[in-house]
Amino acid sequence: MSSSWRSSATNRRPTQAADTPKNPGPIHSDLIRDPNPKPKPFLHFLAFLLIIFLGLLQFLPASHFRDPSDPLRNWVPFSSQPSPPPPPAVKLAVDEDDGMIHIVSWMQCLDLKVLAVFTNSTLSSSRYPDLLHFHFFTPQGDKDKVSFYKLKVLFPHSNIELHGQEEVKEVIKRASSGVEHANLNLEEIAPFIIPSVHQSLRKFIYVSPNMILMGRIEELTGMDLTAHAVAAAEDCSKRLNSYANSDVLDAIQRSASKPWISVTPYEKDACMPDLSLLLIDGKKLEEFLEIFLWWSKVLNLSDRSTERNPAMALALYNRYLKLSDSWLVKEPTASVDVTKKSMIIHYDGPKIACSGFGNYSISRSFHGNSWMKYLPAMSNQILGS
Ligand SMILES: *[C@@H]1O[C@H](CO)[C@@H](O)[C@H](O)[C@H]1NC(C)=O
Ligand SMILES: *[C@@H]1O[C@H](CO)[C@@H](O)[C@H](O)[C@H]1NC(C)=O
Ligand SMILES: *[C@@H]1O[C@H](CO)[C@@H](O)[C@H](O)[C@H]1NC(C)=O
Repeated sequence: MSSSWRSSATNRRPTQAADTPKNPGPIHSDLIRDPNPKPKPFLHFLAFLLIIFLGLLQFLPASHFRDPSDPLRNWVPFSSQPSPPPPPAVKLAVDEDDGMIHIVSWMQCLDLKVLAVFTNSTLSSSRYPDLLHFHFFTPQGDKDKVSFYKLKVLFPHSNIELHGQEEVKEVIKRASSGVEHANLNLEEIAPFIIPSVHQSLRKFIYVSPNMILMGRIEELTGMDLTAHAVAAAEDCSKRLNSYANSDVLDAIQRSASKPWISVTPYEKDACMPDLSLLLIDGKKLEEFLEIFLWWSKVLNLSDRSTERNPAMALALYNRYLKLSDSWLVKEPTASVDVTKKSMIIHYDGPKIACSGFGNYSISRSFHGNSWMKYLPAMSNQILGS
C-alpha cells in the first residue's frame, strides 16, 4: 500500500515537470538561489491572533453532550432550562406548558403491529414529528418494557410513553355503580377520564388506535376550542334517532331537571359525533363522566342491542366543536378520491381480536393494503409476524 503510494508519488514528479516543460531551468534556479522568504510581519501577527482565538474557544461552555446510556450516542444540545425545541412560528402547541403535541390512545388488548402502523403514519404525515409525544394506554402499561423497547427500536427518535389502565378503570368503576358494565365501552369513555387521572395530560388529541393518519395532526392544534371541552368530527351517516328512542328523549327533555339537558327538544336526526379522533381540553371536562353516566342510566341501555352507546352523543350534544369533515374517519375501501382527501382512515390490516375481558385471538382476515405502506420495514423481525 505505502510502497505503491510512494511510487506513484515519485512518478508524479516527472509529470509535474512535464506539465511545465517550456522553461524548467529558471524555476529550479529561482528555488535554489532565493533564500527562505521572509514572512511579512503582519502575517505573523495574524497567525498569532488566530492561535489566541482558537485557544480562547476552549473556554466557551459546552453546547452539546452525548448521553452514555443512549445506544446511538447522539449529540444532544445542552439547554439551561428543560425546554423542548423552540416552537415553530405557527402556534402548534396543544399543551401550553411544554410545547409538545400530546397524542393519546387507549388499547384494550395490546397489538403492537397496529400501534406501529398508527405511530408511523402519524409521524410520517406530520411536518413536526419531533414535537409529537405519544401516550399509549395499554393493559400492562409502563411495566411492559419489552413492548416499549420494540417500539423504540422501530422509532428511535420518537417520544413514546406507555401508561397503565388501572387508575382510569378504577375511576370509571367507582363512578358507575348502577350502570351495566357490559354497556360501557372503555375505549370510548377513557379519553374523557384520562385528564383527571393524569394531571400532566390536560390538552391532547385522542385517537383510537385502529387508525391510519394521513393528514398533518398538528393542523388540529391551532384550533380554539372556545368554551367547549371537546372537538370532534360529525358523522352524518349515523343519526341520533337510530340510537335512541325519540319519544323517550322528548319525555326526558320535558320532565327531567338537570343542568345538562338541552332547553330545546333534541333534534331527532342530529348527526352523531365520531369518537375516533377527539381534541380534548381536560380543564373544561369536569362534569363529563357524571353527565355520561346519567344518560346511560336513564336510557336503560340493557334492553338495547346497539353497537354504540347514545349516552356519549347525548352528553356531547351541542357541547362540542365540530371538526371539518376531512377529519372524519373514512373507510380505506372508499373511492381513491375520498381516501386521498381524508386525513384519517381505518386500519385495514390484520389485528388481534379483543374481547371486553382482555381475552384475545389473532384475526388474520383483513380487507385492504393501506396499512402496508406504513408498516415499518423491520417490523417482522422486531414484532414477529
Ligand atoms: C331496563 O330494561 C330491562 C330490560 O328490558 C328491565 O328489566 C329493567 O327493569 C329496566 N330498568 C329500568 C330502570 O327501567
Ligand atoms: C378467556 O376466556 C375464557 C372463556 O372463553 C375464560 O375461561 C378465561 O378465563 C378468559 N381469560 C382471561 C384472561 O380473561
Ligand atoms: C414509515 O412509513 C413511511 C411511509 O410509508 C416509510 O417510508 C418509512 O420507512 C416507515 N418508517 C419506518 C420506521 O419504517
